[in-house]
Amino acid sequence: MEKLIVTGEVQLTGNIRISGAKNATLPIMAATLLCSGVSVLHDVPHLSDIKAMQDILELLGAKITRDGSAVIIDTSGVSKQEIPEHLMREMRASVFLMGPLLGKFRKVRVSYPGGCAIGPRPIDLHIKALEKLGAKICESFGYIEAEAGQLTGAEIHFDFPSVGATENAMMAAVLAKGTSVIRNAAREPEIIDLQDFLNKMGAKIRGAGTDTIRIDGVQKLYPTEHIIMPDRIQAGTFLIAGAITRGDIAVENIQPEYLFSVTNKLEELGATIATSTDSIRIKAGELRGGDIKTLPFPGFPTDLQAPILSLLTVAKGTSIVTETIFENRFKHVDELTRMGARIKVEGRTAIIRGVPRMTGAVVAAPDLRAGGALVLAALAAQGVSEIEQVYHIDRGYEQLELKLQSLGARIIRSK
Ligand code: UD1
Repeated sequence: MEKLIVTGEVQLTGNIRISGAKNATLPIMAATLLCSGVSVLHDVPHLSDIKAMQDILELLGAKITRDGSAVIIDTSGVSKQEIPEHLMREMRASVFLMGPLLGKFRKVRVSYPGGCAIGPRPIDLHIKALEKLGAKICESFGYIEAEAGQLTGAEIHFDFPSVGATENAMMAAVLAKGTSVIRNAAREPEIIDLQDFLNKMGAKIRGAGTDTIRIDGVQKLYPTEHIIMPDRIQAGTFLIAGAITRGDIAVENIQPEYLFSVTNKLEELGATIATSTDSIRIKAGELRGGDIKTLPFPGFPTDLQAPILSLLTVAKGTSIVTETIFENRFKHVDELTRMGARIKVEGRTAIIRGVPRMTGAVVAAPDLRAGGALVLAALAAQGVSEIEQVYHIDRGYEQLELKLQSLGARIIRSK
C-alpha cells in the first residue's frame, strides 16, 4: 500500500494554484444526466472520488473522456436508472444521482451510499425533499427505490441546511411542473456553482447562496460548458500548511470571500494575511491557540476542522475545537497523539494543549480530511513521518505531495 513519507520542519514558501472543487464537480457531473448530449466541464481535479462518479455515469450509459483538466460527458446513451451497491458504497456523493435520475427518468434505484467513516450520515433529508416533490419512495433490502409519474413543484423546508440534500432537491425540482421553494437551504458556495451550471443548461433557479432557493420548473434542459469553481477546502488546507510550517505562501486562483471564516481565524491565531481579488498570501511565525466551532457556511467549515486542529497542537496555549456538523470526526486525534500532541476529546469537543513541537511517527489516514491534517502535522514535526492509507487523501487532494514539493516540502510517495 502506498504511503507518504515526510521530513518535517521545512518552512513552505512560494505560490500554489488551486484546482477545481471536488464538492462542486460531483453534483455537477450528476446534473449532466438531466439532459441528453455532450457537456464539457473544465478544471475538474484528478481525484478518486471523481473517478468513482465517472464510473457510475458510465455504467448508466454515459460516454466520458478526459482531456487534461477537462471532462467531456456525453449523456445521449444513458438508459439505466439503477446504481449497483459496490459503486454506491464507494462514495457518499453517489446519493446526488437520485435527484437528476428521478427528474429525468421518473425512476431511480440506489443502495445506501458509503463515503468517509465520519459518523452516521443519514439521507432522510434527501428522501423527504424528493417525497415533497411527489416521488413515491420505498426502502427494502438496503435499496431505495423512487418513482414519480410527474414531479410537481413544492415547498421544501429543511430541518437542517444539508448541502447534499439542497443540491439533490434542486436537481429533482428543475424538471418538475411548477415552482419549488427550498427553505433553510444550505448556503455553501458549491451550491451557487451548481445553480450556475443548471441555469446554463436552461433551468430557472435563483437564490443559491442564500437560505431560500426558488426553482421554476422547465420542460427540457440542454448540454452546456462550465468551469468548475476553485476548491476552497484545498485552498484552506494550503493556507494552514503555510501557517503550521511558519512559512510564507500564496494560494492563487481562488475566491477569497469564500474563505473569510478561515482567514479571520488564522489572523486571530497570529498569522498575517494579505488578500487580493483571486489570491491569499499567508505569513506566520509562532502562533497562539484559539477556539473554533464548525458550522454550516459561512461558518468555519467542518472539512477544515482536522487540518486546523493540527495547527492548534503546536500553537501556544490552550485551544478548544467544537465539531457541530458530524459525529465522530476526531479520528485524527489518536494519530496526532502518536506524534506528541496533547489533546483530550469529550463528545464533540477537543481540548488541545499546545506543545512546542511534534515528533515524526508512523500514522494512518483515517479519512480524507483527517489524512490532510496528518500531512500538515508531519510537515511541522521534527524528523520523519510516514502516513499510511493514502487512498483516503487521494479521494480529495489532487497530487498533494507534488503541490507541497513545489512549495519546498520534503514529501515523497512510496509504493
Ligand atoms: C457535503 C460535503 C462534505 C462536507 C459537508 C458539510 C460534498 C460532496 N460533500 O457533504 O465534504 O463535509 O457537506 O459541509 O459536497 N444529514 C442528515 N440527513 C440528511 C443529510 C444530512 O441528518 O439527509 C446530516 C449529516 O449526517 C451531517 C449533516 O447533516 O451530520 C451535514 O451533512 P450534509 O450537509 O448533508 O453533508 P454532505 O452533503 O454529505
